[in-house]
Amino acid sequence: MFGFGQLIDILKKNPKRIVFTEGSDSRILEASSRLLASNFLHPILVGDPDKINESAEDSGFNIRGAEIINPMDFKEMDKMVEEFCELRKSKGVTPEQAREILKENNYFGTMLVKMGYADALLGGATYSTADTVRPALQLIKTKPGNTLVSSCFILVRPSATGGNEVLAMGDCGINIKPSEDDLVEIAEETIRCAKVFGVDPHVAFLSYSTDGSGKGEDVDKMRNAARKTKERNPDVPIDGEMQFDAAVSPKVAKKKCPDSEVAGHANTFIFPDINAGNIGYKIAQRMGNFEAYGPILLGLNSPINDLSRGCTATEVYSMAIITAALS
Ligand SMILES: CC(C)(COP(=O)(O)OP(=O)(O)OC[C@H]1O[C@@H](n2cnc3c(N)ncnc32)[C@H](O)[C@@H]1OP(=O)(O)O)[C@@H](O)C(=O)NCCC(=O)NCCS
Repeated sequence: MFGFGQLIDILKKNPKRIVFTEGSDSRILEASSRLLASNFLHPILVGDPDKINESAEDSGFNIRGAEIINPMDFKEMDKMVEEFCELRKSKGVTPEQAREILKENNYFGTMLVKMGYADALLGGATYSTADTVRPALQLIKTKPGNTLVSSCFILVRPSATGGNEVLAMGDCGINIKPSEDDLVEIAEETIRCAKVFGVDPHVAFLSYSTDGSGKGEDVDKMRNAARKTKERNPDVPIDGEMQFDAAVSPKVAKKKCPDSEVAGHANTFIFPDINAGNIGYKIAQRMGNFEAYGPILLGLNSPINDLSRGCTATEVYSMAIITAALS
């Protein structure tokens, strides 16, 4: 069963370096001071060192030992510009344009990961999701064999029987209207991520219909995506389309789809689009008392994750560990 201790153990065996693009934010500084107090994850703060040190002093966090890199006087900037232009050559980006773009912490930080100065990146304490994710899509790109970047949330709450109840939900954060084949890829990546968090995935493709009770192209999309995912992953319990009540309630499942190996005890949920997914995970978080970790980006060549702008320092600390442990 998932616990942060396991992720920390992974990092203790193989310590990593993580970039924070918003180096002077007090929540980032608090999380960094906690990371610096142990040895498993080294923070790299992007920004003006004077501003960062002043902010740390004002908020009372000890960040001694943190590496601070200022895009305005980065020694390897020429090399970074060259590499950036090469990566964006299909878009005809000139060195002058690259130099301007790389003054932005989000692009600069992403290039630090791309060039191997760091293993992972966490941003979004002040940047929007799109502004954190776009540099990753453009520069880090999808890993071999994948066609898209997607995301999932891991939801955790204490279980009535002891330990934690852990769920995975995808894609609640990136792909606005995924196609049938996108959903197959989203499901496979969500399954992989769920396993890292100790979940034995029982995967439900969610819909307003259960086993043909409703009609429409959205119903067909979820049913076909479930079938294709099952064909590619015969060992994983996968079913759909199904409604959420059939997915989680054994009583409803017995009535609506008694033969399903998933219905009644699903723990990994694939949503039809970002509207359903984003609303769904927030209902679980706000009304079901689950802690929500994510969006965890899936399918990228290196781990880069996005914080909510309303995040707390504790969430920054947790997401940093999750991000780095997945690298
Ligand atoms: C992710 C997102 C920001 C990308 O939007 P965008 O920057 O407008 O995307 P663009 O279409 O301009 O594409 C930018 C690049 O990313 C690539 N890209 C876009 N979406 C992608 C995806 N899902 N997977 C992989 N690559 C993707 C494009 O191919 C393009 O690459 P290129 O510049 O090398 O040609 C957008 O889909 C989005 O806003 N999603 C919702 C985010 C959100 O608000 N979530 C809710 C809060 S959690």
